[in-house]
Amino acid sequence: MDFWKLMDIVHKKQEIMNPMSDEKLKRLCRLLDLKQGASVLDIACGKGEFLVRLHELYKIQGIGVDKSPYCIKDCLKKKAERAPDSDLTFLEMDAADYQPNSVESFDLASCMGASWIYDGHEGALKALSSMTKPGGLIVAGEPYWRKEPVDEYLAAEEESKDTFGTYMENVETGEDMGLRCIYTLDSTLDDWDQYESLHWWAVNEYIRDNPDDPDNHEIRKQCDRFKEIYLKWGRDTMGWAIYVFRKPESSN
Ligand SMILES: C[S@@+](CC[C@H](N)C(=O)[O-])C[C@H]1O[C@@H](n2cnc3c(N)ncnc32)[C@H](O)[C@@H]1O
Repeated sequence: MDFWKLMDIVHKKQEIMNPMSDEKLKRLCRLLDLKQGASVLDIACGKGEFLVRLHELYKIQGIGVDKSPYCIKDCLKKKAERAPDSDLTFLEMDAADYQPNSVESFDLASCMGASWIYDGHEGALKALSSMTKPGGLIVAGEPYWRKEPVDEYLAAEEESKDTFGTYMENVETGEDMGLRCIYTLDSTLDDWDQYESLHWWAVNEYIRDNPDDPDNHEIRKQCDRFKEIYLKWGRDTMGWAIYVFRKPESSN
C-alpha cells in the first residue's frame, strides 16, 4: 500500500510527529527567542506544527519541506486556519533535492525525525549548518540508544547499531564539527508511550470508520508489527531527543 497513506493514518491523532510532548515543544519554541521576522527552514516539516508555532510567537518567514502529500495538505490547512497572513511556504518534495536560494541564509534550520535524508545525524547537521547563517541555530531531533540494542531488535528494525549514537555521541557529533550544543530536550517513557500508543488508537479508529478499505489488512499488519517491536525492545532501548546547536559566528 501507499507508504504516505499508512503514515497519515498512523499519525492521525498527532500534530507533532515525534515523541516530544506538546509542553516540551512549547518550551523549546519560547526558548528559541527568535527575532521578529527571522527566517526558518524546517526539513521534513510533517504537519507544519513547529513552523506555525514559531509564526505565532515571532512572525517568522518559514519554509517547510516534506515529501508526503498528506503532510503538505495538512500544512496548508493549518496555515489557512492559524496563520493565514503568514510568510510560510510549504514545499512537497524530497528534501534531499532542496537547495536554498543562497547558502548560509537561515536564522534557524531544523530537521526532526528524518536525518536519514542526509545519511544520518552527522550528515543532517552538516547540511543544516550549510544552510544556516553564522551565529544561527540548528535544531536536530534524533533517536539515541538508551542501552545496547539486542540483535533481534536490530534485525526486526532492519537497522545497524551504527545508525544511531548515544545521547552524548549525538551532542559530540555536532561539537566535533565546530557547532556548540546549547540545549537538549529528552522524551520520557510517558512521552514515548503517548506517541506510540496513539498510533494504535488511530489505526483502530481508522479501520472501524473505514471497514471497506482494501488496505485494512496491511494497515493492521504494519501497526501490529510496529507495536510488537516497540513493546518488546524499543520502549527500553530507543531514546529520542531534540538537540539545539549554535553555529559559530565565523569559521576562525
Ligand atoms: C518522524 S516524521 C517528523 C515530522 C516533523 N519533523 C515533526 O517532528 O512533527 C518524519 C517526516 O519526514 C518526512 N519525510 C520522510 N522522507 C522524506 C524526504 N525524503 N524528504 C522530505 N520529507 C521526508 C515524512 O513525511 C514525515 O513528515
